[in-house]
This record gives sequence, structure tokens and C-alpha cells, in this order.
Amino acid sequence: MNKTIVITGGAGFIGSHVVRLFVNKYPDYRIVNLDKLTYAGNLANLKDIESKPNYIFEKGDICDLDAMRQLFQRYNVDGVIHLAAESHVDRSIRDPFTFARTNVLGTLSLLQAAKEQWNGNWEGKRFYHISTDEVYGALPFDGTLFTEHTRYDPHSPYSASKASSDHFVRAYHDTYGLPVVITNCSNNYGPYQFPEKLIPLFINNIRHKKPLPVYGKGENVRDWLFVEDHARAIDLIYHRGRTAETYNIGGFNEWRNIDLVRLLVRTVDRLLGRPEGSDEPLITFVTDRAGHDLRYAIDSSKLKNELGWEPSLQFEEGIEKTVKWYLDNQAWLDEVTSGEYEKYYERMYAGR
Ligand code: NAD
Ligand code: TYD
Repeated sequence: MNKTIVITGGAGFIGSHVVRLFVNKYPDYRIVNLDKLTYAGNLANLKDIESKPNYIFEKGDICDLDAMRQLFQRYNVDGVIHLAAESHVDRSIRDPFTFARTNVLGTLSLLQAAKEQWNGNWEGKRFYHISTDEVYGALPFDGTLFTEHTRYDPHSPYSASKASSDHFVRAYHDTYGLPVVITNCSNNYGPYQFPEKLIPLFINNIRHKKPLPVYGKGENVRDWLFVEDHARAIDLIYHRGRTAETYNIGGFNEWRNIDLVRLLVRTVDRLLGRPEGSDEPLITFVTDRAGHDLRYAIDSSKLKNELGWEPSLQFEEGIEKTVKWYLDNQAWLDEVTSGEYEKYYERMYAGR
């Protein structure tokens, strides 16, 4: 193995796609997946690659500085791709402290462990921090886009914690010289997303004819990107992105929530052999999310111009693939929503 990369949060939604891509594409890299296995982390996401010789799973908490120091020493780490985080806005509204702890203090522990281990020898080293477009706040309905120069203006405890972690990452570069790179991505969708987020939650609810709780009037706009396109961008930026730069990653693919929900209803209905659109009465408008950001939209032209990255999938095609995956993987959905897998992994890794 000529390189060791720690991918944090590799048992989560996006992390599992990144781990899979790196393990398969780079057999000469040792890929260490560091994950605490919270409710959102599930090793079932990685069954297809878990026995590959260049893959290692380490259960651990990024907030535990000593454990992070030991991990960096044990594996003589060359690079970090940092995805571990609490990631759901609604949970952050109920429990902001957990978000500050994991997203801010956890990131700080990793930065410190990397700095101590590398100790000024930055050659061949990289700390890649994965962030979100939500740090930029909300856009009006005027066609403007978030660029890398948009002022940070987070509104939710989730986005405030991610913004704070971004600042620490930049501070470790500016103060100590740590070779960092940051990307801010738009909403991801695809297989293995925990079904508390809009798309998997609603696919599952449509299938089971449960209500679809649309916040407010469903007018909020999100820019959706297929998760494998995000993983491809991460690969490119890990290898070719410029140190200390920020790159925005997005799909140039804005959808009003209500239009997206109707597309999901039509797609699930068609794939289940129901009359298309017949499940629209499941749509239920509910009280809006507190501080609900109106619109996110990313300008990813810097990434396109510098590194040639573009989304590969049309949204309708990506949604079709995604709906099919959830309909074919009901057992996965049942497992991650039952709480059983959390108990299982607690037992399995007890005492490690
Ligand atoms: P996720 O919630 O699906 O997964 C998070 C993973 O981190 C889980 O496996 C969890 O077990 C792990 N984790 C949580 N706390 C940990 C801790 N203290 N120590 C170690 N591991 C811990 O999240 P996701 O949607 O895959 O997002 C991954 C990253 O990408 C996050 O940093 C998120 O902010 C960012 N992001 C997500 C999106 C999106 O649409 N999902 C968009 C842009 C950026
Ligand atoms: P979500 O998937 O939670 O991602 P984010 O909040 O990071 O954008 O939500 C996507 C959009 O869907 C957001 O505008 C909130 C809305 N939403 C609902 O209307 N109902 C729901 O049950 C959920 C989970 C989200």
C-alpha cells in the first residue's frame, strides 16, 4: 500500500459511496473507515467491499482526541477525507449541543491529531473537509447562486456547526500550515440515505401509503446532486484540488419541494404498477420547519473550469435509479429504521 487515507463517517450515506469508490479504484491505497456508528452509520452500506484487502473499519469517535492521535500514529496516515458529522437539520433544532460537539469539536480533534502527526512535514499530506452549501444561508427567488465568495450566513444549528468547523479548518491552514481543502456541496440523493431525509422518507411513505409531511407550502428550493457524482468530485479534488482552496459542488438542478414530491409520487406509483399520481392525496402540508432556508443553489463553475467536473446524471434518471433502489431494498430500510442494527453493532464492537 503506498498511501493511507482515513475516511471519517464512511458508514454513513455519502461516506459509504466515497469509501466504495476509493477501495475499488485504488487497490494500492489503504482505506481506513473511521466511524462511531451513530443511528446514521450502518456497516450494511459497505457489505460489498468489507472483505477487500485494502479496507479497514475502525469504530471510534472523532471527538476523542487521544483516540484520534493513536489512530494517526498506528496507521501513519497520509490523508483525511472528513465526512463524519451530525447531518440532519431537524435533529439539530431539537439537539444543537450534539451538533456543536460532533461537528465542531470533532473536526477540531481531527485537525489537531493530523497537525501533531504530520508535524510540519506536509509533503504528500492532505486534510479534506466535506462541508455543505447550507453555511451560505438562504437565497431569494432571483436566480442568484452561491459562489465560493458568498458570505457565510448559517441559520440552523446544523449549518452553524458546519460553518464553525469550516472556519477551524481554514484557521489550521492559516495558523499552522496544515494542507487543507474544503468543499461545500448541495443536497445529495441516492442509495443508502437514512430515511429521515426528504427523498428516502417520502419514497418509503408512498410505498406504504403513509402521509407525506411537506413543510410549509412546499415552495422551498433545493439543488439536488446524485451522491455518486459527489463521490467522483471528492476523488478529483482529493487528488487535484489546490491546497487551501474551497470548491462548491452542485447539480445546477433546482427543484421546489412540492414539485419534487410530485415527481416522487409519480415515479413510485409507476414502478409499483399503481396509476401514476394516484398517491398525491398522501401529500399533507404541515407546520414549517423553524428558520427554514428558502432556497439553496450552487454555482460549481470553478470546479468545472479548474478540474473539468460536471454532474453525469440527469435528475429524472437519478430519481428513477434511486426510487428503484429503495423499492428493491426494503430490508435495508426496515433494518435502519428498526433500531435493531444499532443494538447489533453495540454488541459486536463492545469493548473495542
Ligand atoms: P450521515 O448522517 O448519513 O452520516 C454521518 C456519518 O458520520 C455516520 O456514519 C455516523 O455514524 C458518523 N458519525 C457521526 N458522529 C460521529 C462521531 N462523533 N465520530 C465518528 N463518526 C461519527 O451524513 P451524510 O449525509 O452522509 O453527510 C456526510 C457529510 O457530508 C457531512 O459532513 C455533511 O455535513 C456533508 N454534506 C451532506 C450533504 C447531504 O445532502 N447529505 C450535502 C452536503 C454536505
Ligand atoms: P432534508 O432532506 O432534511 O435536507 P435539508 O434540510 O438539508 O435541505 O430536506 C429537504 C427539503 O425538504 C427541505 O426544504 C425540508 C423539506 N422537508 C419536508 O418538507 N418534509 C420532510 O419531512 C423533510 C424531512 C424535509
